[in-house]
Amino acid sequence: MGNNVRPASLSRINTPELAEKFISEQVSELRRQIGDKKVLLALSGGVDSSVVAALLIRAVGRQFVAVHVNHGLLRKGEPEQVIEVFRHQMGAEIVYVDAVDRFLDKLAGVSDPEKKRKIIGAEFISVFEEEAKKLSGIGFLAQGTIYPDILESDGVKAHHNVGGLPEGLRFELVEPVKFLYKDEVRMVGRALGLPDSMVDRQPFPGPGLGVRCVGAITRDRLEIVREYDAILREEFAAAGLAGKVWQYCTIVPDIRSTGIKDNKRTDDRMVVIRAVNSVDATSATVEEIPYPLLHRLVKRITTEVPGVNRVLYDLSPKPVATIEWE
Ligand code: XMP
Repeated sequence: MGNNVRPASLSRINTPELAEKFISEQVSELRRQIGDKKVLLALSGGVDSSVVAALLIRAVGRQFVAVHVNHGLLRKGEPEQVIEVFRHQMGAEIVYVDAVDRFLDKLAGVSDPEKKRKIIGAEFISVFEEEAKKLSGIGFLAQGTIYPDILESDGVKAHHNVGGLPEGLRFELVEPVKFLYKDEVRMVGRALGLPDSMVDRQPFPGPGLGVRCVGAITRDRLEIVREYDAILREEFAAAGLAGKVWQYCTIVPDIRSTGIKDNKRTDDRMVVIRAVNSVDATSATVEEIPYPLLHRLVKRITTEVPGVNRVLYDLSPKPVATIEWE
């Protein structure tokens, strides 16, 4: 545990100046550690891996290579943003892997949430390993571990963090933000020039939309969950709630709902809206979404995306419910 305790010399990073200081120290340290080898990262596009990517690009530039695995469970626009920011704007080497069919085929018919998590985690490692083996000169594997990952795990769910260290890859580990808390990671990301939409991103589970498409994942439900999530994010941003609410999402249970359209009975999906506030995800309270916004969401969800005739608002705190539905 010795080197897993935050050093007393690391002061709390709560100003842009302290973030710059951290960055310059890390850049020197990373250059020293990595030398002339290459460093590989599984880049999901989440806050932590994105900040590690930006740090490594600053430190070692062309010796950095990232693999972005699109497992089909990402939110709308995420793979595109990863490519845009890191490949086009920062000029880094990004290997993009379209593994959508592979993941969805493996997940077909699997309804147990923990089995789903295990399949997604294991498949991710296989895809990542396969890609890593195609690359030459890699000496280091970078990870976006942050301090809370070291400190806590609530033990209720498997919480496979996509990007966990693949056993088969015997590279030395580089974890430049492992002693930072989330707000410090965001501060560093901002100082590195990452867009706000990436740095201020709400928590998003490793298995992604896979746990919001409750039960056995089907392509049609997955697509609608992605569309509703995008609508929810758009409306929360427009209402000024995006940066204020800790986590918000849509969920599609694997049940049907009776509705009515053009005087005919419909047998469609229902969508659940969930918005919670939390400090560390071990407990959560419900955000009281203003009714006008709720009505607007209901209208958009039931008219813009086909196949939905009912919208529900989940008022359960954690405990007794967990944040994700499964
Ligand atoms: P729960 O649902 O357990 O979620 O109340 C607590 C926090 O963890 C996220 N979550 C996950 N994160 N892998 C992850 O990396 C997972 O399998 C997973 N399941 C839940 C959840 O989104 C919330 O922020």
